[in-house]
Amino acid sequence: MQNLIEIKGVRHAYQTDSGPLPVLDGLEISVPEGGFVSVVGPSGCGKSTLTRLVAGLMKPDAGEVWLHGERVKGPRATVGMAFQNPVLLEWRSILKNVLLPLEIVPTKLSKKQAEERARFLLSLVGLEGFEEKRPSELSGGMRQRASLCRALIHQPEVLILDEPFGALDAFTREDLWMTMHAVKEREPFTGVLITHDLRESIFLADQVVVLSGRPARTQYVLNVPKHGPRTLDDLYTPEAAEQLNILRHQIEIAQGRAPAEEAQP
Ligand SMILES: Nc1ncnc2c1ncn2[C@@H]1O[C@H](COP(=O)(O)OP(=O)(O)O)[C@@H](O)[C@H]1O
Ligand SMILES: [Mg+2]
Repeated sequence: MQNLIEIKGVRHAYQTDSGPLPVLDGLEISVPEGGFVSVVGPSGCGKSTLTRLVAGLMKPDAGEVWLHGERVKGPRATVGMAFQNPVLLEWRSILKNVLLPLEIVPTKLSKKQAEERARFLLSLVGLEGFEEKRPSELSGGMRQRASLCRALIHQPEVLILDEPFGALDAFTREDLWMTMHAVKEREPFTGVLITHDLRESIFLADQVVVLSGRPARTQYVLNVPKHGPRTLDDLYTPEAAEQLNILRHQIEIAQGRAPAEEAQP
């Protein structure tokens, strides 16, 4: 299978007042079409930097980022993004917020088709009936659902989620995990999820990439075997407990709190 996302030997440093700050060094990540990869790693190791490179918002100092067989050279509409803070515009309705990306990057859809698509996406995430509300009238979880619809409006090939559920309470977060699975069934995409929640990483993704401390390289890759549709009960099986143990240990290595001899090359 051709990989939709290829990150090869990526190295990047930020120029700061106190000299260069190496953030990524020898990063390797491949995501097949329709795959879903979670990326976990210590705080400040370069995860958000990685998302900006995939989205074409930044160029790496060295190495290559490829999307669908094309080298990434700039931003493109085929990449959708959602963040921890949904940044919805308060003076626009939820429907108009979801439609916003189509005003920035034109679409082939007519106005009517675009609105139909936005309404469909909102119903898919359980926001039917909230189309005309303002962002402040919605709960945090609902705003995150709306932000997800906005990221999907262009039917992106790649959906990048940078800690989108990080600010939500545990139950709301779990509801959104289920929504993510429902969305992916109806609106297939190739996903990259940045998270610090290890349960979330195995519940949503089919592969978990652990990054080392800064400068980050790919330290460990865990394949999450699929057993049909997922339910929250799957997180309480012996298999899940073992996967979580492996990941927790790898995070300790990445943080320098455990010796590195068990890290995978
Ligand atoms: N534009 C920037 N200029 C200088 N340093 C930055 C910039 N963006 C991020 N950094 C630094 O680079 C490191 C990695 O940042 P980031 O990719 O946001 O990490 P993460 O998302 O893993 O927490 C951090 O130490 C951060 O302070
Ligand atoms: Mg970040």
